[in-house]
Amino acid sequence: MTRPQNAVLRSVVIGLGSYLPKRILSNADLEKMLDTSDAWITQRTGIKLRHIAADDERTSTLATHAARAALAEAGLEGKDIDLLIVATTTPDYTFPSVATQVQAAIGMTGGVAFDLQAVCSGFIFALTTADKFLTAGSHKRALVIGAEIFSRLLDWKDRGTCVLFGDGAAAMVLEAQPGGGTTADRGVLTAHLRSDGRHFSKLYVDGGPSSTQTAGHIRMEGREVFKLAVTMITDVVEAAFAATGTTAEDLDWFVPHQANARIIDASAEKLNIAPQKVVKTVAFHGNTSAASVPLALAAARADGRIKPGDLVMLEAMGGGFTWGAALVRW
Ligand code: ACO
Repeated sequence: MTRPQNAVLRSVVIGLGSYLPKRILSNADLEKMLDTSDAWITQRTGIKLRHIAADDERTSTLATHAARAALAEAGLEGKDIDLLIVATTTPDYTFPSVATQVQAAIGMTGGVAFDLQAVCSGFIFALTTADKFLTAGSHKRALVIGAEIFSRLLDWKDRGTCVLFGDGAAAMVLEAQPGGGTTADRGVLTAHLRSDGRHFSKLYVDGGPSSTQTAGHIRMEGREVFKLAVTMITDVVEAAFAATGTTAEDLDWFVPHQANARIIDASAEKLNIAPQKVVKTVAFHGNTSAASVPLALAAARADGRIKPGDLVMLEAMGGGFTWGAALVRW
């Protein structure tokens, strides 16, 4: 088949699915456990509730539920996928990966499956990685999942962190399809990743296999993270605009990492993105780390906000520090 001149391969989204555990922990529940209040949490973060995994649920359980939902929407089965990437910081085991467990669970018998760890930026890193495989022509269909059980990394006595996080998973199916090489194409139009290892002490987990032989707990200098988050997010989103010759006006939707409503609002304002274009779901699941961006996407797809042809900017920032943005035409 002859391809039109300037033809390129694009990673086109053909399915989305999500899963939130049944158990809900509200701000009122936290008031009974800690010296905190619904008013403080709501005003500082915008979070009203978070979902907590059941004792018998693992990250691979959540990821598999989300994967099945995304495959169903795409009208595909596990055997149709040849690349599976799970972004997670909370794997079931130190090894094997969550991805290979999901691979077995969904009946994906060929191709390759692996985990990727970039904390809250994990989904953007995994999406960007999948895009490289698909646009290189080496793989045809990718399943990209963000899945976390952050509740098991929390110090429930530290009110500065434990009120912020929750559990969840969401998955996206992407297919390599020919495009014309312009921003009118459907699919991932550009993606930009960054990291800066000098910020370790501002956000980290105080355990791990080669240090303490325990999983550890999250430690964070919240105010410092807040200040840097807005700068880093706006920098990388502007890089995505510059690479494609697009502007905030061209966007239909801004789907940011759901860490904190104030970070989201401050970033959107600095980027001149109109408030009605911002997808905000943080109130209903808190910060679910790598699952947060695809959970927000799945919510905005399910309620009919994001439609085929829409231009959508995704971004995230997290531990490392890591940060990134991807511009996608739905
Ligand atoms: N309930 C009540 N009071 C609290 C709580 C709580 N849950 N947590 C802290 N406080 C108190 C502090 O002890 C402090 O009291 P003091 O003045 O008597 O010392 C006071 O509130 C102010 O504390 P700060 O930490 O300065 O509060 P701040 O306004 O910065 O809000 C927060 C804290 C919400 C963590 C904010 O800094 C933030 O959102 N930072 C970003 C962190 C983040 O989102 N991290 C997620 C991972 S990274 C990412 O995803 C981008």
